[in-house]
Amino acid sequence: MTDATNDEDLIAAARQAASQSYSPYSRFPVGAALRFADGTVVTGTNIENASYGLALCAETVAVAKAMAEGRRGGLEAVAVTGPRGKGGDQPITPCGRCRQVLNELAQLGGTDPEILCVGPGEVRRTRLSTLLPDAFGPASLD
Ligand code: THU
Repeated sequence: MTDATNDEDLIAAARQAASQSYSPYSRFPVGAALRFADGTVVTGTNIENASYGLALCAETVAVAKAMAEGRRGGLEAVAVTGPRGKGGDQPITPCGRCRQVLNELAQLGGTDPEILCVGPGEVRRTRLSTLLPDAFGPASLD
């Protein structure tokens, strides 16, 4: 857990997390950093497995860490870094499962976090609601 007050710091935290990636099979290290309303940053990185399909994505690891620390809302921004994206230089975007996992924490706190998709030469800013429109979430079960 660290503190980050601006987007550059959030991206740096995601990059730092990616340096701890365990991705010997894909050789595709991903970092994620979640910023909360109180300024706290929680990071994650992808953790692969010899049983390939069991890989854990960076964003999912970060959400699991945050929720295991008791966080249930306040998710304001997410930075995701990868070595490359579509065509080699496009920023990475969160996979479908990670969008859904992020949505759980976001909806619990009633936020629509900004998502910073960070590639080698570009940062693309979007919102979770843009990446996952009409999301199924906690409120859907009421
Ligand atoms: N990966 C992530 O960590 N997050 C994503 O949103 C997309 C994919 C990881 C999973 C796997 O370890 C590697 O990237 C290649 O798919």
